[in-house]
Amino acid sequence: MLDTHAGAGAYDLGAAPAQRTGEWQGGIGRLLAEPPPALAEYLNLVEQIGLYPGSPALVRAMLRPQDRLLCCELHPEDHAALRARFAGDAQVAVHRRDAWEALGALLPPRAGRGLVLIDPPYEAPDEFERVFAGLQRAHRRFAHGVHVAWYPVKHGAPVRALHARLTESGMRDILAAILLLRAPLDAARLNGCGLIVINPPFRFEQEAPAILDALLQRLGTREAGEGALLERLAEE
Ligand SMILES: C[S@@+](CC[C@H](N)C(=O)[O-])C[C@H]1O[C@@H](n2cnc3c(N)ncnc32)[C@H](O)[C@@H]1O
Repeated sequence: MLDTHAGAGAYDLGAAPAQRTGEWQGGIGRLLAEPPPALAEYLNLVEQIGLYPGSPALVRAMLRPQDRLLCCELHPEDHAALRARFAGDAQVAVHRRDAWEALGALLPPRAGRGLVLIDPPYEAPDEFERVFAGLQRAHRRFAHGVHVAWYPVKHGAPVRALHARLTESGMRDILAAILLLRAPLDAARLNGCGLIVINPPFRFEQEAPAILDALLQRLGTREAGEGALLERLAEE
């Protein structure tokens, strides 16, 4: 598994930054308070791992002995925290390496099968374009891999453009899982988020709707335009 923007590994919700914003209470806090059955596997992992786990900690907990996790993280402090977390772990490699460059250098994986997760911070104005180019690059080097990219929904235009480009890209078997908290009219707010999944794993398409519905039920705002949907962007 290649985690291109791995972060620090896990986050202390009791520490000052998390306490200051308190955002987690409206998110993971609500899910843990009343766990929906569709999210049981994920929430059990969150409780087992302890601190609020980021993608590398969740993936590490699910690796089989023959699996490997490659993490890239550029920020020096986050990289150091991630390295310390996995020090001496022969199944995990932590690189201080640019995510977009890593997609070319680290793919395809030796095992021939695997998952690529692209979870950038969306701080750069062209991040949607970079994600599209990154998915294309990853797919070119590793056509049978499962490629996943997260995106925020602030306003609709960049999301529609990303979906259209993916549909027209020639890549096959692409889904978008979208959670909208409200109509994406105010671009200054996080109005929802989505996940692009290329070559979705077995049963993902059947199981994702229940997960999206459970997320909407617990995290929904009851504002106009909220909703959850699984959209097929390209046929198999
Ligand atoms: C949204 S966070 C990732 C969160 C992580 N996937 C998780 O679940 O905890 C994005 C991370 O990407 C890192 N980053 C930003 N640009 C990068 C780049 N070009 N290459 C590698 N890491 C980058 C940031 O330092 C930040 O830690």
